[in-house]
Amino acid sequence: MSKAVLGISAFYHDAAAAIVRDGEILAAVQEERFSRIKHDPRFPHNAISYCLEEAFIEPSALDAIVFYDNPLLTWDRVMKNCIQMGEQSFGQFEKASRSILGIKMWVKDYVDRSIGSLGKLGKLLFTEHHMAHAASAFYPSPFQEAAIITLDGVGEWATTTVGHGSNNKIELYYEIDYPHSLGLLYSAFTYFCGFKVNSGEYKLMGLAPYGKPIYYDVIRKYLIDIKDDGSYRLNTVYFGFLDSMVMTNEKFNDLFGGPPRKPESKITRREMDLAASIQEVTEEVILRIACFAKKETGSKNLVMAGGVALNCVANGKVLREGFFKDLWIQPAAGDAGGALGAALLTSHVYFHIPRKINFNKKDLQKGSYLGPDYTSAEIRAFLDRNEYPYERIKDSKQRFKKIAKAITDGKIVGYFSGRVEFGPRALGARSILGDPRRSDIQSVMNLKIKYRESFRPFAPSVLSEDVSEFFEMKTRSPYMLLVAPVREERRLPMKPEALNGGEDDIIIKVNQPRSDIPAITHIDYSARIHTVDRDYKPDYYQIIKEFKKLTGYGIVVNTSFNVRGEPIVCSPLEAYKCFMRTRMDLLVLEDCLLWKEKQPSFKDIENWRSEYELD
Ligand SMILES: [Fe+2]
Repeated sequence: MSKAVLGISAFYHDAAAAIVRDGEILAAVQEERFSRIKHDPRFPHNAISYCLEEAFIEPSALDAIVFYDNPLLTWDRVMKNCIQMGEQSFGQFEKASRSILGIKMWVKDYVDRSIGSLGKLGKLLFTEHHMAHAASAFYPSPFQEAAIITLDGVGEWATTTVGHGSNNKIELYYEIDYPHSLGLLYSAFTYFCGFKVNSGEYKLMGLAPYGKPIYYDVIRKYLIDIKDDGSYRLNTVYFGFLDSMVMTNEKFNDLFGGPPRKPESKITRREMDLAASIQEVTEEVILRIACFAKKETGSKNLVMAGGVALNCVANGKVLREGFFKDLWIQPAAGDAGGALGAALLTSHVYFHIPRKINFNKKDLQKGSYLGPDYTSAEIRAFLDRNEYPYERIKDSKQRFKKIAKAITDGKIVGYFSGRVEFGPRALGARSILGDPRRSDIQSVMNLKIKYRESFRPFAPSVLSEDVSEFFEMKTRSPYMLLVAPVREERRLPMKPEALNGGEDDIIIKVNQPRSDIPAITHIDYSARIHTVDRDYKPDYYQIIKEFKKLTGYGIVVNTSFNVRGEPIVCSPLEAYKCFMRTRMDLLVLEDCLLWKEKQPSFKDIENWRSEYELD
């Protein structure tokens, strides 16, 4: 008999909902896409409503509702930690008590308020946090069996697990517990380098190639003891997160030459070197754990999830190291993906629904296009109602040609098509596109579109079949979770001013063209790769194909459709606002094209700066 399961993640970061029927993923979306609060951790009322509507399921028809985490176990960890740390942890205890006893314990009440009394609904179940991560990695993967690694800051007690999945069954054999956490170690350096914990980790990873790992030895000697099998222990006397509200303490400052960098202040050589050093340590731990997982399971496949699995530089190295023949990472690897993992685990373990594995190597994540979409009729109604001028091009071939030509002409294009991506990366459903061959495109997109002065290059979307033409990589990377080097013959040598005079000036380095696709080539000649398949996203594939016909390059710049501090756009209205408040030239809303110069003056435009948090 058919079984419908609603998965929910909330109260930590990136709240989300997902709905699964008989093991098939029908919908999954983060709450931030509706609430417009980045990384919104609150109970995902909007995401739940959307998932039920998308799946045509009444709340009373749900067979189970499952929460991705066990608040009782989290409470156990907080209590024991505070008892051990004593008086100095009182502030932390007070905050954690309010959060756990006041909010996290009351999942049932939140569900009641959101979709109706549980008495009339299906059962409310709870999974363990890392089991939800493991399920989100294994069940949607294309593998019948695989080794599983989960890595995050902390979930209940666990911070790292290793196990194995086979058909319906998942077993987690090894676990490292709080306070020993690779995720928290990385977050401590994120905080110390002046970035936001739980969102700035990606920036720290992007900063690493500018530095030298000169603090590697200090980190290994004082902060973390790593064993051959990848198990590790942190030296907790250097961290603040056990007994205070901050990640690091005075002892940590002493190791690295003074207090943390103030957010928004100039990035100095110290931060670049710290980023390089912690990245090297992180990669070492992950590679050792991967080697251990290979030995323990003997599998030729690996799946990964948890926030640390978003470290695509480390992921690329795991793949290149060759322990495993194939690697699949949950695109919503952070806590949002826990909602999906919890729903899948309930389907396959609690309800014993057999996994339907694709033997054509295609995964079950559906390209991660699992969120809301809008029909052309809905979009035209919105545009007509507001009298925004647009050109409708129903002939898709003509439309793709026109978009590709605009990109070739150096225009910046906002592309809005199909269902919103589940996970933090834009994959051509809500993307901003540009020409990767132009050396000025990185600074134009950073300063006039994204409103950031960034050291991070943009990512490329490349036709799957052309990936090895541009990069030293042969595999697909449909979720932008792998980093690989740009091919040697495409690289340009760094100019002396970038190597010498620009030693401490990150912007001089950023502005140096580094290859014939400069906008997507990082300082170390690497790129975060998104491969595009005809099957997953045919319209996006065709645009890149048309761009290739015009230029010989089957590759475009792809950055998420948002400005700094804002979640990725979800609705046509949000896309239009973002288009008008930035220097984008063309907005594509399904089959409707809007040119900037034809739009009426946008009355809010002068006030946009106050509306965005410039983090
Ligand atoms: Fe997590």
